[in-house]
Amino acid sequence: MELEFRRVDVAAEMRRLRDFDKRVFSQGDLFPSAYWRECEVYWMLADGKRVGCCALQEGEEGELWITSSGILPAWQGIGLGRVMKAWQVALARRCGYRKVLTETRAGNTRMIRLNESFGFRIVKTLPDNYLDPDEDGVEMELVLSSTRGQ
Ligand SMILES: CC(C)(COP(=O)(O)OP(=O)(O)OC[C@H]1O[C@@H](n2cnc3c(N)ncnc32)[C@H](O)[C@@H]1OP(=O)(O)O)[C@@H](O)C(=O)NCCC(=O)NCCS
Repeated sequence: MELEFRRVDVAAEMRRLRDFDKRVFSQGDLFPSAYWRECEVYWMLADGKRVGCCALQEGEEGELWITSSGILPAWQGIGLGRVMKAWQVALARRCGYRKVLTETRAGNTRMIRLNESFGFRIVKTLPDNYLDPDEDGVEMELVLSSTRGQ
């Protein structure tokens, strides 16, 4: 299987992006168009097919936020989420970020464990952060070394 990450032209592919989002996330977690436009978005392609999507945003000085990570249901559980996470962390290192941050539902143990396996740790709980269904969130961070990858 050939895997590739490709930058999304958010304005041109908004409908495709929102359709993909609906196939992966519950109603309450869908991003509005305005929010997609604020993010740097990437497709994950497997043999040319869009199987995953992630969104990134620059935070405060030296911080990169992973604002969305999703793999289509039919493609989950075979290691693609792990590949996506490794790619996100590698990108952050390559670009010289000192910290990677992300938020997820407190009950999303699959995502939390996956993040932890890359060295992320929970730094904050976010009471009632999610709707439909209502749930707390957790903020996780990974501190990277300050040396820029050359
Ligand atoms: C969370 C998500 C990105 C993970 O991607 P994935 O391709 O399913 O995950 P992987 O197959 O790479 O597995 C990652 C870890 O999840 C766990 N996992 C995988 N399949 C699982 C399953 N069916 N049940 C329980 N845990 C499972 C494993 O612990 C695995 O770790 P391992 O590699 O040490 O075995 C994906 O499931 C997804 O898009 N879910 C819906 C959207 C979502 O919740 N996104 C995160 C919001 S922040």
